[in-house]
Amino acid sequence: MTYPIDMSVHPDVSAHFDEATNTISCIVKDPASDHCAVVDSVMDIDYAAGRITYDHADRLIAEIEARGLTLDWIIETHVHADHLSAAPYIQERLGGRIGVGEKIMVVQETFGKIFNEGTEFQRDGSQFDALFKDGDTYKVGEMACFAIYTPGHTPACMVHVMGDAAFVGDTLFMPDGGSARADFPGGDAGELYDSIQKVLALPDEMRLFMCHDYGPDGRDIAWETTVAEERAHNIHVGGGKTREEFIRFRTDRDATLAMPKLIIPSLQVNMRAGELPRDADGRPMLKVPVNGL
Ligand SMILES: [Fe+2]
Repeated sequence: MTYPIDMSVHPDVSAHFDEATNTISCIVKDPASDHCAVVDSVMDIDYAAGRITYDHADRLIAEIEARGLTLDWIIETHVHADHLSAAPYIQERLGGRIGVGEKIMVVQETFGKIFNEGTEFQRDGSQFDALFKDGDTYKVGEMACFAIYTPGHTPACMVHVMGDAAFVGDTLFMPDGGSARADFPGGDAGELYDSIQKVLALPDEMRLFMCHDYGPDGRDIAWETTVAEERAHNIHVGGGKTREEFIRFRTDRDATLAMPKLIIPSLQVNMRAGELPRDADGRPMLKVPVNGL
């Protein structure tokens, strides 16, 4: 696949860090117009209390309104397992289309079974406004954007490229953070390695924006690096690490990791494009499948 890369377009990226989930949400503005996209928004949850709030999303909305921007797209790089998406909340207020990778159908099939969803839960991705395949293009204002299919962390992961900026989702972390786990249902360490190679094949100077950062060894939270930096210094894949080395390392490491604290509510909400599931009476209600994950 050859991708329509255009390094001459330099979007303004405004990053919002969510401390509760270590997620970075980005507002990406087309340099040639007042149009923007949001990548990987966050809905706040106090899971112990079953309480949903929207402080993080409200900050994104306030910035978009204050800058007088038109929101074209609300992009999900994948079905996140560690935070809930606020895509429908943002869409209701600002418009825009919600887009995700077309392999969402695989994720919906897998977790539809695990959460014992009824037939009313559609597994065809129809909760989203757009389903992207590898190389699909779209526009934010006049800025040409495209999606790269990057499975491995999950089967539906996509990296989104907007001008000289790529939003890598959970394929890569900052160079000192390495890579995301590949042990969720449908994940695969070998596929993740291959997907990371697609990102590392982008131009050296392309800016890469992370979806997560955990500030390893006490360093300040960071979210921006470049392809050249990752290729040279990423602790899991940089400096020419082989596929076999990566698979061995990733598999051993993943076996030691606990489940993300919010995986159970996150999957139920995110596989519905950010909508809360509802019970037979139409009330928002989350399930816990006992020993199901
Ligand atoms: Fe993730």
